[in-house]
Amino acid sequence: MKKSARKAIIAGNWKMNKTRPEAKTLLEDIKPLVANAEGNVEVIACVPFTNLETAVNVTAGSNIKVGAENVHFEKSGAYTGEISADMLVEVGVEYVVIGHSERRQYFGETDETVNKRTLAALEAGLKPIVCVGELKWERECNITEEVIARQIKLDLWKVSKEAIKNVVIAYEPVWAIGTGLTASPEQAQEVCAFIRKQLAKLYDEETAESVTIQYGGSMNAANAAELLAQPDIDGGLIGGASLKADAFNVIVQAAVNG
Ligand code: PGA
Repeated sequence: MKKSARKAIIAGNWKMNKTRPEAKTLLEDIKPLVANAEGNVEVIACVPFTNLETAVNVTAGSNIKVGAENVHFEKSGAYTGEISADMLVEVGVEYVVIGHSERRQYFGETDETVNKRTLAALEAGLKPIVCVGELKWERECNITEEVIARQIKLDLWKVSKEAIKNVVIAYEPVWAIGTGLTASPEQAQEVCAFIRKQLAKLYDEETAESVTIQYGGSMNAANAAELLAQPDIDGGLIGGASLKADAFNVIVQAAVNG
């Protein structure tokens, strides 16, 4: 399958930013700018739980899809502070970020819980954006491929060949997130191609070719076009630059033109 046959996806990851009125303003600013991406590039806003309903309402009838930033793996019960996949679906959420490095780093997320969340999300009908990526010292020790292969295998355990079609993989080198240090297009391409190779091993060539793989980590208006031009980079997961309508739109347009 050619890159052009895969779904290009640009997703904003707002992290812990924006109150509801601020969310409404940002989405209203983004909406007309990215309207031309419809049918070509999927545009997603992954927002804090408190903004989900606002985001669903503001984006109704537009080409912007709404995502959450995390989901719990149990269906319901005594899990204070957690949100289930069914709760997200009921609000109108379509995507969910799972296993972001900030969750792994600050909130004890492991490959096992990432896998459980991915399976729960898929079962509820959500599309998971599963994040993988190596730490700086893992790259320095030359074990990036080992780390990524392990994450892909564990995070996608028991995800069927049918279900993987609804999964997006985000390659986010931890050292590039929020640091202004972007992976070079060659470095990002190398790992995204490696991820596709792992998917081919777990599933088959055709399935691997159909999965959308994003790059994330200081992607911005200045570097997006070059990153998105790489043959195995099908989109971006954007943190800081997704909080400004103009910068986010430049990235969306790079994907539309790429
Ligand atoms: P950044 O974040 O673009 O601010 O580096 C990316 C991410 O964490 O998804």
